[in-house]
Amino acid sequence: MEIEDIKSIGVIGAGVMGSGIAQVLARTGYHVVLVDISEELLKKALEKIEKGPFGLMRLVEKGKLTEEEVKNIMERIHPTININEVEDCDFIIEAVPESPELKKEIFKKLDSICKEECIFASNTSSILITDLASAVERKEKVIGMHWFNPAPVMKLIEVVRGALTSDETYNLTVRLAEKCGKTPVEAKDTPGFFTTRFILILTNEAVRMFERGIAGIKEIDTMAKLGFGFPMGPFELMDLVGLDTILHISNYIYNETGEEIFKPPITLKKLVLSGYIGNKKIKMGSKGGWYDYYKPEK
Ligand SMILES: NC(=O)c1ccc[n+]([C@@H]2O[C@H](COP(=O)([O-])OP(=O)(O)OC[C@H]3O[C@@H](n4cnc5c(N)ncnc54)[C@H](O)[C@@H]3O)[C@@H](O)[C@H]2O)c1
Repeated sequence: MEIEDIKSIGVIGAGVMGSGIAQVLARTGYHVVLVDISEELLKKALEKIEKGPFGLMRLVEKGKLTEEEVKNIMERIHPTININEVEDCDFIIEAVPESPELKKEIFKKLDSICKEECIFASNTSSILITDLASAVERKEKVIGMHWFNPAPVMKLIEVVRGALTSDETYNLTVRLAEKCGKTPVEAKDTPGFFTTRFILILTNEAVRMFERGIAGIKEIDTMAKLGFGFPMGPFELMDLVGLDTILHISNYIYNETGEEIFKPPITLKKLVLSGYIGNKKIKMGSKGGWYDYYKPEK
């Protein structure tokens, strides 16, 4: 298969990442089949793609797109709760929650319905691609395509080769990332690849410094922004991504590698157990994040 042969792309999961990925693909000109488990979630995803903070209408306001173009992009996205509708897709990107069991179950189902040449990419932040590939026959067509949040804005895509990923699959995925205006970087298949390992070391160390009384939450965030030019501090980042997600990924990498540096800090666990899973997840029942529990002045 050549990059020109890819016309239709299936995106499984229309949450934070799947909706952003679908937006980028449709804007690039692809026909997108966007799958989730309820009509309500799909409706929310389409609203976000059109009118969200990183949505298409923002680009109209900035004069980068016309309303007519937005209409055409939206028409290229076909939302559905029936996963069988991806059967004619040339490429699939799964962006369901970070569970090896769920992702493998979905890949297995896709393996039985998709055409032989279709490539299966996973947006996982940490799970071994070789593990996900073990669920399907087409192991040479399974790859990691790790986008960053918010997908319409962030330029990086980490491309992860599993043990049996073919050169053809790798090259096509790199070309697809480039066609979407992104910069692909190659990663080895190891828990957390290299981008998630990097960010977890920062967030875990930030929490440990706070636990040991070395510095406060606000001071650490201020240091990251004003001292090192990060767009946000590690505590603000955890509040945005979700403390539950950080804990989950940290546990996965620690359990897989045994490396102490990835051991989740106890304070992070305590906050998650108490319902503080981040200030961006309040609609999902979160009581807030680091700043809400410890109340340092912002
Ligand atoms: N949030 C981030 O900052 C971020 C960044 C990079 C990568 N990721 C990775 O992307 C993936 C998705 O993360 P997210 O933050 O978008 O999660 P999310 O919870 O926002 O979205 C997941 C979506 O998948 C849907 N879903 C669940 N089961 C499904 C099924 N059987 N079929 C179809 N859809 C199903 C859910 O209803 C939900 O809408 C994870 O693997 C995560 O590690 C997340």
